Amino acid sequence: MPQTMTKTGPLQADQAKVKEIIRELTRSYWMEIETVQNYIANSVNLEGIRAKEIRESLAEDIDSELGHARRLADRIHVLGGIVPGSLEFKAEQRAIQPPKDTTDVLSIIRGVIEAEDGAIEQYSKIIEICDHVDWATQDLSIELMADEQGHRREFISYLAEFDREEARKMATG
Ligand SMILES: [Fe+2]
Ligand SMILES: [Fe+2]
Repeated sequence: MPQTMTKTGPLQADQAKVKEIIRELTRSYWMEIETVQNYIANSVNLEGIRAKEIRESLAEDIDSELGHARRLADRIHVLGGIVPGSLEFKAEQRAIQPPKDTTDVLSIIRGVIEAEDGAIEQYSKIIEICDHVDWATQDLSIELMADEQGHRREFISYLAEFDREEARKMATG
């Protein structure tokens, strides 16, 4: 192999960088899995007239978030990483635990927005790490981030029914 050629594997980067990308993808993967757990629970538990729309919206998003987890797992594999099993899972999403009051729709709306914000922030981080290093992971993260922005906006529109001012502030960043 001539001196100018480098061993590339799936991407042009040193191994430390690849490991960093795999680590951050794995974090996103766990966030998606935890979101699936909490969206399932809340899409079933919530009760009352105002809960109907939220239940349906959460039920729809479950498939989207599960799809994200699967695509992240696939990318981890392509980069030479190992997709972890459940024993490595650590729960973090306090804001979106099923409320004791099953009609407390507002706390779930706020919790979902917080979860989506967390996912958006984590994808932004990956997008930056991947710049000029791993275009395919960057592209995937941009696409998934756009999905999360859509979910976030949807729940801000639900928030508007409870608190117009808070929703307005959130919508404009
Ligand atoms: Fe997601
Ligand atoms: Fe989402």
